[in-house]
Amino acid sequence: MPPRARLLAAAGYLPADVVTNDELAARHGLDTSDAWIAERTGIRQRHFAAPGETASAMGAEAARRALALAGVPGEEVDLVIVATSTPDSAFPATAARIHAAIGATRGFAFDLAAACTGFIYALGVADSLLRTGAARCALVIGTEVYSRILDWTDRSTCVLFGDGAGAVLLRAESPDGPGILSTHLHADGRQADILTVDGGAGSTGGTGVVRMQGREVFRHAVTKLAAVVDEALAANGFTHADVSWLVPHQANLRIIEGMGRKLHLPPERVVVTVDRHANTSAASIPLALAEAWADGRIRPGDLVLMEAIGGGLTWGAAIARM
Ligand code: COA
Repeated sequence: MPPRARLLAAAGYLPADVVTNDELAARHGLDTSDAWIAERTGIRQRHFAAPGETASAMGAEAARRALALAGVPGEEVDLVIVATSTPDSAFPATAARIHAAIGATRGFAFDLAAACTGFIYALGVADSLLRTGAARCALVIGTEVYSRILDWTDRSTCVLFGDGAGAVLLRAESPDGPGILSTHLHADGRQADILTVDGGAGSTGGTGVVRMQGREVFRHAVTKLAAVVDEALAANGFTHADVSWLVPHQANLRIIEGMGRKLHLPPERVVVTVDRHANTSAASIPLALAEAWADGRIRPGDLVLMEAIGGGLTWGAAIARM
């Protein structure tokens, strides 16, 4: 039997600048209010990176914290996958910079682009590589500086996002032990234009800014997340009653609460950070997982269900035994 990818530790990093809804409106002269943002999204504040603070710097800090929690030296890591829409540069990969920053010298490192689903995609790819023996010890990192790709004149999108990083350390261990049970990844490129960045190195030469048809994205989120959660449970012979924790992508509290209700989970079994972090895209799930694991909510033996949807469209789910 192939090994199972065990989650050894998770850790996050949030930049120091905390910006409330009111401060955001004042900084950018936005015609919005704390009440509008909080009611529609659940967001109260977000963190923004300092000038010069990069995806690799934040991701490396989250990675170092995860390694320290697990007591694993950086040299043991032989796979680094970074999910990001805001890499330091087109190349080298942000993952390569983090590989060096943690003191890794072996194995391989690459970035993966699946927008807000990036962490679930990266977890799925890492799980496959650990099962085949291509790697033994993996860091899966989501790290984002969306504050650099927002249009500050578009109040319907610029209020939704924040910066941060989260890292999960995985190691190939016993096939019967805890770890990733399954991952389920999907894409529909026909919906590419409803959530997109309108520029890039290979098209405009610039970075572009986030463009979103909010209502359309909301509509797809509700149906696709419900379907992929059912798929993940069915693949393992589970029902909603088996789930200990829902750790969802943190885009919108209304979507998160809807998924909790679908799974018949009481609100205290759904990990929520969107109020404090806003949408940190690929970083949101590892940040939420790290928080709930660190404060003792998530315990050994718990069944954790993770799900996300994002630009692509991409969406997916993962189930792990802790
Ligand atoms: N402050 C105040 N008013 C705002 C506003 C803001 N920040 N942003 C938009 N509005 C206004 C609009 O101009 C519009 O006004 P109008 O009726 O006079 O034209 C009104 O609010 C409704 O806009 P709409 O975009 O239809 O709002 P909505 O109810 O769909 O809520 C979102 C907008 C973005 C909160 C919602 O669509 C959403 O959450 N979508 C999913 C987004 C998501 O999760 N994306 C990430 C996926 S990874």
